[in-house]
Amino acid sequence: TNSIITDTFHRPLRDLRISVTDRCNFRCVYCMPKEIFGRDFVFMPRDQLLTFEEITRLASIAVGHGVRKIRLTGGEPLLRKDIEELVRMLASLRTPDGLAPDLAMTTNGSVLAQKAQALKDAGLNRVTVSLDSLREETFQAMNDVGYPVAKVLHALEVAQAAGLGPVKINMVVKRGINDQDILGMARHFKGTGFILRFIEYMDVGASNGWRMDDVVPSAEVLARIGAVFPLEPVAPNYPGETSGRWRYSDGSGEIGVISSVTQAFCRGCTRARLSADGKLFTCLFATTGTDLRALLRGGASDVELSTALSALWGARTDRYSELRSAHTTEDSAHTSQDSAHAPKDPAAAHKIEMSYIGG
Ligand code: GTP
Ligand code: 5AD
Ligand code: SF4
Ligand code: SF4
Repeated sequence: TNSIITDTFHRPLRDLRISVTDRCNFRCVYCMPKEIFGRDFVFMPRDQLLTFEEITRLASIAVGHGVRKIRLTGGEPLLRKDIEELVRMLASLRTPDGLAPDLAMTTNGSVLAQKAQALKDAGLNRVTVSLDSLREETFQAMNDVGYPVAKVLHALEVAQAAGLGPVKINMVVKRGINDQDILGMARHFKGTGFILRFIEYMDVGASNGWRMDDVVPSAEVLARIGAVFPLEPVAPNYPGETSGRWRYSDGSGEIGVISSVTQAFCRGCTRARLSADGKLFTCLFATTGTDLRALLRGGASDVELSTALSALWGARTDRYSELRSAHTTEDSAHTSQDSAHAPKDPAAAHKIEMSYIGG
């Protein structure tokens, strides 16, 4: 059952992103807007969540098939009780060549200062923390729960000091909301060892009311920063990296741009996503997942699970962002007028929310 598997475009399975909960204590406007994720929103009942044993079993099978990087996401992964125990279990996995997979986490940082050392001790290699602005008013409006900037900055320091680095910072850029903060963020983190990454706002899910006009293309981000702090390109860390890498010419560190809207990176996409209730999705924009929990709880053997995974990945044809960018370039002129009411994308109503499928 140990073999590398490739999809219909010859892309191997290399990364597994595991959502451990669909809950979050933030309500970021681009991810879990309050109008949808309000008081009466029904999250997954606890018994629907995969147990740590179930997650580890699936991860182990995926690692046997070539997965080298495991990222824990959510929702907010640190809200899952005893998450460090899951980290400990996943850290003991080995690839067929005997290597430990790279174990990372994407978090909003709100519980990170308390947990950083325990996570490091359990075997977590590194964290990526979301931070959309350094200005209090803007950041609090974006997380929409009044969470202060200073607490995230503190968590970043604690994580870096605990050895969970190089710590990356994710900034989703939304035009007219936080694009005035691009240069300020760059200036603040320049020379600190943190790797700041600017993410193009994406049309994930069906609830964030995405419009092309809200997207700030990475080329614009780079031009704005480069005009003040000269930049030069850096080769990718690995083929199919989501982030384009750039370094400051004066040697004071690097930044990244994630251009999933203007320069889709499906060609090198080696990522599978496991939702907290055990569905496997082969694309961030998938409309359906495969229920692996049913197999697990139905008593499937490792060989059966392995065969199911190989079959799923082998049939994969996903390249949503590439197909979308083929349209949005011509469509962007008229998407803004009709977007407030009718969904411009007929598939939108079925797309899975990022908090469910995992960032
Ligand atoms: P490292 O390179 O290991 O640091 O991981 P990463 O680049 O995958 O980083 P991270 O998990 O922080 O992802 C950053 C952001 O990129 C996510 O929050 C998404 O917005 C976007 N992203 C990640 N994977 C995909 C993908 O497969 N498709 C698309 N369209 N966007 C993605
Ligand atoms: N567009 C781009 N990135 C998003 N994220 C969530 N929603 C979106 C979106 N609509 C990403 C952010 C955040 C991570 C948890 O998910 O990078 O840091
Ligand atoms: Fe929560 Fe992250 Fe989504 Fe914000 S982006 S609502 S912190 S899961
Ligand atoms: Fe991969 Fe789908 Fe994202 Fe393309 S849109 S990079 S196929 S997850």
